[in-house]
Amino acid sequence: MGLRYLSAGESHGKALTAIIEGIPSLIKLKAEEIDEELARRQKGYGRGKRMQIEKDRVKIISGVRLGKTIGSPICLMIENKDWDNWQNIMSLVPDAAKMENRMTRPRPGHADLAGLIKYRHDDLRDILERASARETAIRVAVGAVCKALLREFDIRIISHVIQIGDVRAENIPDDPNKIWKNAEKSPLRCSDINSEIKMMAKIDKARQLGDSLGGIFEILAIGVPVGLGSYVSYDRRLDGRLAQSLMSIPAIKGVQIGMGFDSASKYGSQVHDEIFYQEDKGFYRKTNRAGGMEGGVTNGQPICVQAAMKPIPTLYKPLKSVDIVTKKPFDASVERSDICAVPAASVIGESCVAFEIARAFLERYGGDNLEQTKKAWQEDQDYLKAFY
Ligand SMILES: Cc1cc2nc3c(=O)[nH]c(=O)nc-3n(C[C@H](O)[C@H](O)[C@H](O)COP(=O)(O)O)c2cc1C
Repeated sequence: MGLRYLSAGESHGKALTAIIEGIPSLIKLKAEEIDEELARRQKGYGRGKRMQIEKDRVKIISGVRLGKTIGSPICLMIENKDWDNWQNIMSLVPDAAKMENRMTRPRPGHADLAGLIKYRHDDLRDILERASARETAIRVAVGAVCKALLREFDIRIISHVIQIGDVRAENIPDDPNKIWKNAEKSPLRCSDINSEIKMMAKIDKARQLGDSLGGIFEILAIGVPVGLGSYVSYDRRLDGRLAQSLMSIPAIKGVQIGMGFDSASKYGSQVHDEIFYQEDKGFYRKTNRAGGMEGGVTNGQPICVQAAMKPIPTLYKPLKSVDIVTKKPFDASVERSDICAVPAASVIGESCVAFEIARAFLERYGGDNLEQTKKAWQEDQDYLKAFY
């Protein structure tokens, strides 16, 4: 059985939880390092007030002892700090007041209306509680565990924002370390300070207009060995798996690998990464337009994936909708919502990529404990050295 996880929990429920199975034993893991990732998700210029209320903290319920994974399922929990104020609304038992407080106004751009019909509810809260992007907090916690595994093999996952609305980052450094350093300091996770200023102005403008903004972020995975994923079956292709995982983040509407959509308008000679050989270097490429994968298999180059996020659908400036009971039109507006959440989405994207790479990594090298995984990985590294 490979690496897998399942999450549960509603936005205003008691807690978000996840159970991860398949992480080898003997990996160092602390709740604090998961909390650091959770804090990174909560930052970002353009976010709403809820981010100021929550300070997410993880509780490791199982699977870790004395600072190391023990090989059993790892259960993680993020408690809702505001639960006292929500326990009546989220009550487990039937509540007479429910019909009075129910939500009957579906928001455009959300799962509200389709979810209500699909699950045959009469209160939109039953949909939006789980469809909310709050669920991504627990994904980030899962991603932090996967990062702890990948760190043992010097694999790093980096994210940065490259576009907000129509403002594109201009001077992105070539060195991933520089990108990382700049992005970690930036309130927008942008690696170019001049572009960041323009992006912030764009968000301020959207705020004034009562509107929202989307954008694009990039994820780089550095140090990924050759041979993760496979071309032999559709569901083993790592490019497809990464795309699925990133597309599953709420509001992500496009994913591209390497040159992606741009490659469609170019000649083949402008798209493919030619192969060269030099004795001191072995096989190498001068470009990485494929984004680190060919045929759904990693080729040893950095993995480069970009994801496009649509503007947040809940606007201060109302959008038109229709009440499900009265069938009367109304203007859907909101008191508290994000204006732009692309920086947070980029951190969530890191977690999605970390999970998929960790899964593919363990498929290739396996092991019940870190020593076995390291042995199999080392054997492959030795083979590669001889081949090159
Ligand atoms: C980090 C993050 C924060 C979000 N914050 C909000 C928000 O404050 N208000 C909102 O209406 N949508 C927000 N969204 C987007 C919605 O969750 C998403 O658009 C909605 O669930 C519908 O899913 P879809 O856009 O994938 O179709 C956020 C998404 C992410 C990833």
